[in-house]
Amino acid sequence: MVLGLYWMQRAGTLAVSSRYAQKMYKWAILPQIVTLVFMQAIAAQTGSKKPTFIDVSEPASPRETQVLCRTIQLGVCGTDRDILDSADPWVPEGESQLILGHECLGEVIAVGGSVTGFAPGDFVVPVVRRSIEKQVERIDMAPFGAYTERGIAFEHGFSHPLWLDESCYLFKVPPHLCALAVFTEPLSVAEKAISEAVAIQSGRLPKRWLERPPRVLVTGMGPIGFAAVVAARCRGWEVTMYGRDKPDTFRAAMVEQFSASYVSSAKFISEPADLEEEGFDLILECTGSDDVALQVAPAMATCGIMVWLGSVRSPRAKLQPVETLMRNVLVRNQILLGTVNAALRDFELAIEHLCQMQAEESEAVNALITARVAPRDALWHYENREPQGIKTVLMYD
Ligand code: BGC
Repeated sequence: MVLGLYWMQRAGTLAVSSRYAQKMYKWAILPQIVTLVFMQAIAAQTGSKKPTFIDVSEPASPRETQVLCRTIQLGVCGTDRDILDSADPWVPEGESQLILGHECLGEVIAVGGSVTGFAPGDFVVPVVRRSIEKQVERIDMAPFGAYTERGIAFEHGFSHPLWLDESCYLFKVPPHLCALAVFTEPLSVAEKAISEAVAIQSGRLPKRWLERPPRVLVTGMGPIGFAAVVAARCRGWEVTMYGRDKPDTFRAAMVEQFSASYVSSAKFISEPADLEEEGFDLILECTGSDDVALQVAPAMATCGIMVWLGSVRSPRAKLQPVETLMRNVLVRNQILLGTVNAALRDFELAIEHLCQMQAEESEAVNALITARVAPRDALWHYENREPQGIKTVLMYD
């Protein structure tokens, strides 16, 4: 019903009373709506590695505190592929499939009676994680089992073209940011990694990073790696990105677009001659590979911090030489830190930094979206990565 009114408004036909419009919707507009909206979602099924389209229906009208949105853009991410690869998605209770999609730009269609601050036509990005029982201040710090994650853990995601949400989980984005706003969620993950590192370092080394900005190493050339580059560059920090690509390839060239430098794994110097002069103060590890973490760790300067932003969903038991790492971390007073998801402050910072990037490096940040595809062509992208691809976005408009 609400959707019918929405499309009539968009078509400029709602110049009549809303009751009359509702009648019109019921009797005349319904067939048009069905063809206007792609009413299928992309799901992961228990027992299968294949993504599938499933038919979905229009959600109910929003309750008091809810907002009804339509998906405009949806990012495909490594987590989606990991969920599929596991053949064991964390499905909502009693179901056998999980609707994927957690990086979303939506448009508000209708709001519940007590919602303030949102109106039809607003652009929004939803947060991923939600508390199961009581609201907590930092849900991103909660133990597994205390939360759901839309499109990832026990709650359906945003490849459903229409979805309801509580208004407290939505962030409004300015219309001029729409082309980039789908990048908010992955960027918020990188912002959290940096915010946590800053909080720890300013607690134990007051002023250190203020007096001399940290020299940053980012490992991994996927969307989170580039998000980490963006988050660090927005703070004006010097960044080196480490990856497996040859220097004359697209992604390596992209690094320079952000005024950062690129070093290939083959050329990386793990043990610099003068560690304090040539080492890194902050390593943002975005590959989830133990081999990479161990290769770059010796290049961390005294009192440095390495943050792990990536991991594999099913780690294998492997023999690795970890004693050297332990020795170095101990004698150099270093910190190894894991971070996941993002706090609300990190979402806000991500939106602020995307606005900054749009003003300063709009071409570079736009080029991070390496494929824009229609939802009906999405399945291949959930199963495969393009060799030099960074971010694939499904365009629902
Ligand atoms: C998402 C995070 C989420 C994490 C673990 C990532 O892909 O960006 O929001 O917390 O996966 O499920």
